This record gives sequence, structure tokens and C-alpha cells, in this order.
Amino acid sequence: MAVAERIQRLQPHLLCEDHNARVESRHHNLTPFSCRVPSQPRPPGAENVSPGGGSVVRVRPVTGGGDPRDVVRRGYDAVSVRYDEAYGAEGKYRAWLGELGRCVPPRGAVLDLGCGSGVPVARALTARGLRVTGADISDVQIRRARQQVPDAEFVRADITDPAFVPGEDATFDAVVSLYALIHLPLDEQPRLLARVGRWLRPGGWFVATTGHRAWTGVEEDWLGAGAPMWWSHADAATYRRWITEAGLIVEREEFVPEGESGHALFWARRRS
Ligand SMILES: C[S@@+](CC[C@H](N)C(=O)[O-])C[C@H]1O[C@@H](n2cnc3c(N)ncnc32)[C@H](O)[C@@H]1O
Repeated sequence: MAVAERIQRLQPHLLCEDHNARVESRHHNLTPFSCRVPSQPRPPGAENVSPGGGSVVRVRPVTGGGDPRDVVRRGYDAVSVRYDEAYGAEGKYRAWLGELGRCVPPRGAVLDLGCGSGVPVARALTARGLRVTGADISDVQIRRARQQVPDAEFVRADITDPAFVPGEDATFDAVVSLYALIHLPLDEQPRLLARVGRWLRPGGWFVATTGHRAWTGVEEDWLGAGAPMWWSHADAATYRRWITEAGLIVEREEFVPEGESGHALFWARRRS
């Protein structure tokens, strides 16, 4: 069954009044930009392989022509397993995913943009009974995700492609995108965020890591996988503006340190 079709059929189950009341009580007292979610720093030893951080080595500023999305796709085909080993796929994001799982109603629909190998995001959320759709540009990532999380649905897609339509407007209770926006061409990012704003149900959550400082560059042999990798991101203030312009309210923002720099983590919500 097509993703959109499946989601449409399940949509009537998504909203639960009791759940909403619980979410309100958990969040309405939060001061914007303070955060109760503990940071999940990358594991020791990962500092020198920081995507977009100050410790990246062998960097040159541009890809030298061609579509950088192809560099990213081929890069993740090559680095998929190594990436999970380097960043501790099982344990990372535990606190974030626990919090997100509590924000989404039972059997809620979650879209994971740039889902990687499905672990831990799709696996953890599916284990909570949520209906997860993951999208990723890398064939290898999607193949591994389908093997590792058979209960989630995965699509091989470029999330910047206007033909990528994971569901009707107001379909998802949450959209999550961790360390993926930072691989998209800059001008595509606000366009994608605007679409995310429409895909979310009123009151739905958007959880994403973004750049903290603006940076664009390539690493020639990231994680020793023998393939170049490309990143491009704006600074946190720009993401805050783009997310707000997408019709979302930034409820929390935190800095996630990594090596000499780090990323921003946003928790935003579509207006009810
Ligand atoms: C750093 S990995 C993060 C994976 C996963 N979100 C996690 O945190 O474990 C970034 C992922 O984004 C995917 N990605 C990058 N650009 C993409 C695009 N244009 N469309 C879909 N996926 C993309 C990559 O293939 C990769 O799997």
C-alpha cells in the first residue's frame, strides 16, 4: 500500500484529547529556548569526525561541480555501517526519543526525514507503537533500515524533491530530522521546512538538529569509507527564523556540543 494511502486510512486514529492534555501539561510552562531534554553528545572519539564542526579535517569549500546531493547519496551508501559504528546507533538520542515518544499520541504517525539505517529513531518509535515512515536518499541506508526495522515503512527519496509527498497535509503527529537537514542545499532547506509545516497536524511536533554556525564543505574520505561527504548549513538564528516562517512555534532550542563546535536542536510545534 502506498505511503500516502496507508496514512490516510489510519488518520482518524491520530488524535486523542487526553493525550493532548498531557502534552500541554508537560510543556506549557517551558520558557522558550530553555530545554529539559538532556544533550546527547557524540561518543568519545567521535570528535574528529564532526559533521560541520570545527574539527573536520581535509575540508575543501565546494564539491567541484555536480549536484551535491549525489555526493551525499553515494557517501552514505559507502559509510552507512561505519557511521552507525562511529556514532553509536543504538544508544544515541535516547532522551530525545523518549521525550518525543511521550509527545505523540498512541499509534501516532511520525515522519523521519533522512532516516539513515532506521536505528535508533524508527526502531525506538516503532517499539512504542508509533507508525513510522522513514525517507532517505541512500539505497544502502534504506535497505538496512528495512532489514533492521521491519515494522516501519521506508521510502528511498530525495526529501528536497517536490515529488516527494509522504502524505496529505496535516498527516503527521511528528516530523523528526536528525543530522539530515545539514546535508541539503541551503536554498532547499526553508522550502522543505515550509512543507514540513504543512505535513504536520495542528499541534504536531517538529524535532530537528540543524547547524549552529553556518558552514559548507566537503570531507574527502569521511570516516575512512573511501567516499567524499558534503555538508551545508546555516546558523541557528537562521533556522529559528525558517522554522517560524514555516508556521511552527519554537518551544525549545538547545546547543548540542560536538568537538569544538556543535549543532542546534529544535523542538517546534505547529499551531493548534
Ligand atoms: C547523518 S545521517 C543521520 C541519519 C539519522 N537521521 C540519524 O541521526 O542516525 C544523514 C542522513 O540523511 C540522509 N540524507 C541526506 N540528504 C538527503 C536527501 N536530500 N534526501 C533524503 N535523505 C537525505 C543521508 O542519506 C543520511 O542517511
